Amino acid sequence: MFLVAGATGNVGRHVVRELLALGVSVRALVRDPATAELPDGVQVFRGDLSRPETLPAALAGVRGVFLFAVPGSGPDFVRAAEQAGVGRVVLLSSDAVLDGAAEQPNPIAGYHAEIERALRDSPLAWTFLRSAHMATNALPWAGQTKAGDVVRGPYAGATSAPVHEADLGAVAAVALTEEGHTGQVYTLSGPASLTAAEQVALIGAAIDRPLRYDELAPEVAREQMSAFIPPFIIGTLFEGWAKSVGVPAAVHPDVEKLTGRPARGFAEWAADHAADFS
Ligand SMILES: NC(=O)c1ccc[n+]([C@@H]2O[C@H](COP(=O)([O-])OP(=O)(O)OC[C@H]3O[C@@H](n4cnc5c(N)ncnc54)[C@H](OP(=O)(O)O)[C@@H]3O)[C@@H](O)[C@H]2O)c1
Repeated sequence: MFLVAGATGNVGRHVVRELLALGVSVRALVRDPATAELPDGVQVFRGDLSRPETLPAALAGVRGVFLFAVPGSGPDFVRAAEQAGVGRVVLLSSDAVLDGAAEQPNPIAGYHAEIERALRDSPLAWTFLRSAHMATNALPWAGQTKAGDVVRGPYAGATSAPVHEADLGAVAAVALTEEGHTGQVYTLSGPASLTAAEQVALIGAAIDRPLRYDELAPEVAREQMSAFIPPFIIGTLFEGWAKSVGVPAAVHPDVEKLTGRPARGFAEWAADHAADFS
């Protein structure tokens, strides 16, 4: 039995799908089974990584866990997983984590690094999947693309190599079910560095509309985005975007190394999500 945390999320849904396709038993840890909408064949289990008392039952009989990084949840999860005799844990982490740093560069790196540390310091067999910028970060543009052909935002030239959530799911299933991944740290990106403006144009191509990116002054965009992004994240995001302008994002080979297939590009991601944007 494999337990998938974050099973209702963008990545977790793909982990579930990949594991089912391999014919293994899947239990999904969800906070609200009524709204989970998971495929037939999945054992849907009510639990919460922030409520350690829910974990022993969720982990009973489990040999591998796909772990979603809920801030502060590492030590309690590790304790429960050790007690339950879990074999391996594959953590969805972040490429912002800096190995060996006395202090992590930002709060996002910080909470992922804390969970990584709890796993490293445990006897559990762990694998870290450090995701680069996820292609799903483009989904908040959907409100604007549905309303017109212009996406307004900061830093048109901010770069990233967006990774498709389906590739993260495929890699997670490999790391959970195949041997040889214990103690490995993989960095997962898409196949190419793209600016925000290029990403918007590719979404336009996918929905057959001439979309363009209209750059807002950072302070204007920051004020608008503060309405829906927590303050501890917004500073990190703006700093990262500003620094990335003119600097191509790193492209990593690990998706292909693990799955045997080239990483899916942003054009493919946009086509997969065309309905979200039109
Ligand atoms: N965005 C990026 O560029 C990026 C880059 C690197 C790493 N990451 C990591 O990837 C994550 C995003 O993955 P995603 O897009 O798949 O997430 P998502 O679509 O936002 O889904 C969040 C999932 O986490 C579950 N969850 C939240 N709090 C929980 C808790 N206390 N206990 C159990 N489950 C809980 C939610 O379940 P419910 O159904 O119960 O709500 C949901 O399934 C980020 O949070 C970050 O850790 C992101």
